[in-house]
Amino acid sequence: MHPIVFAIFFVIVGTMAWGSLLAAPWVPTLSAQRKLLVDNLDIDSAATIYDLGCGSGSIIFEFADRYPDAKCIGYDVALFPLFIGLIVKLRHPIKYKNVSLRFGNFFTKHFSDADVVVAFLMQKAYPKFIATLKRELKSTALIAIEAWPLPGIEPMKTIKGEKLVPWYIYRGL
Ligand SMILES: C[S@@+](CC[C@H](N)C(=O)[O-])C[C@H]1O[C@@H](n2cnc3c(N)ncnc32)[C@H](O)[C@@H]1O
Repeated sequence: MHPIVFAIFFVIVGTMAWGSLLAAPWVPTLSAQRKLLVDNLDIDSAATIYDLGCGSGSIIFEFADRYPDAKCIGYDVALFPLFIGLIVKLRHPIKYKNVSLRFGNFFTKHFSDADVVVAFLMQKAYPKFIATLKRELKSTALIAIEAWPLPGIEPMKTIKGEKLVPWYIYRGL
């Protein structure tokens, strides 16, 4: 294999493996699952929204479609899905001018300006994730967790759809 091809392959596979080890592999959320959240989450039209572990940013783009005045930010460490998201943004620079997809480990980032945090992660990451949310979030921030509830914390609301996994909604932590 050509060294450049090998290097690209190594970076793609390596960063995806890094995401899996940190909190979850890249498993994109279904379109119906994304719509279920955006349709049922009552937020300010100018909210600052983060997807922590955004993959290709599909949830962030869903919010940006619905709320053109919102600030929509995604973090991921896996370069391949991030690259897909960046292509989507570049193809629609005006429509998605409020979208920012960033490379980085969200455990080490600051997002204290968040009004909404969305995450779809494996449960093994929850203890560290909860500590990160507690460190960063204001008490009014909404947290939307896909599939598995945060342990020991009562959600203020659960959003369920037919043949979809639940969204667990928390306010502050
Ligand atoms: C299950 S996928 C969810 C993707 C996207 N949120 C969605 O729902 O379509 C989880 C993503 O989190 C990313 N990830 C895991 N730990 C991370 C971390 N500490 N910092 C940034 N991204 C992380 C993985 O690379 C993966 O793309």
